[in-house]
Amino acid sequence: MPKRLSIAIDGPAGSGKSTVAKLVADRLGLTCVDSGAMYRGVAWRALQAGLSPESQPQAIGELAERLHMEFRRGEDNVARLFIDDEDASQAIRTPEVGKMSSVVSAIPEVRRHLSRRQREWGLNGGVVMEGRDIQTVVLPEADVKVFLTASDNERARRRLKDLEAQGVTTTLDEVLRDIQARDRRDSTRAVAPLSKAPDAIEICTDGMTIEDVVSTIVDLARTVEPE
Ligand code: DC
Repeated sequence: MPKRLSIAIDGPAGSGKSTVAKLVADRLGLTCVDSGAMYRGVAWRALQAGLSPESQPQAIGELAERLHMEFRRGEDNVARLFIDDEDASQAIRTPEVGKMSSVVSAIPEVRRHLSRRQREWGLNGGVVMEGRDIQTVVLPEADVKVFLTASDNERARRRLKDLEAQGVTTTLDEVLRDIQARDRRDSTRAVAPLSKAPDAIEICTDGMTIEDVVSTIVDLARTVEPE
């Protein structure tokens, strides 16, 4: 079977990559893999188990290896993350899990187990995979590599809107501080820090509509043949 297209999209928190990746995947008939959801899944389970990333990194690494994770499409065609057969899609979206996911994602063993699985899913193509290290580490050979950015204020505004829609009460200032702390952790960790691959195309989404961003990536994808 000929290899199918693979698209890697990375970017900081609130850059819009999840929304954009889903729409690009729908438009091109590809499967969307949200790699951040997997880090959130490990964080959620680590919190439930009362594990500390500072004193028990090894136990969290073992948890990452053990957890069974699967994306299943619901009737609404939205992919949901199942962890050990339990739908975790909502539980992993809280600010507490978001913060913890950034901390556990700096544990090398956690990264090793999750990126191995992501790579296995992506190797045959047919995917839009989004995260922090997809174009640099997980799928460096992807046919299309995109690095999405936006200003801190714009990202905080978007994140606040998402959180309010989920019924979470917070302020723009608090969200901005959270985003900046997360950026610092994600970009300065020793293993696979967030960075743009030299051959990735950077798109700053300030002032662009979602449709603008999606069609830019779809147009890029249509100009390349899978290798
Ligand atoms: O995209 P997100 O906010 O759902 O990601 C949650 C955290 O997971 C993020 O702070 C960093 C980490 N992450 C990562 O280290 N590598 C990835 N490929 C995806 C996410």
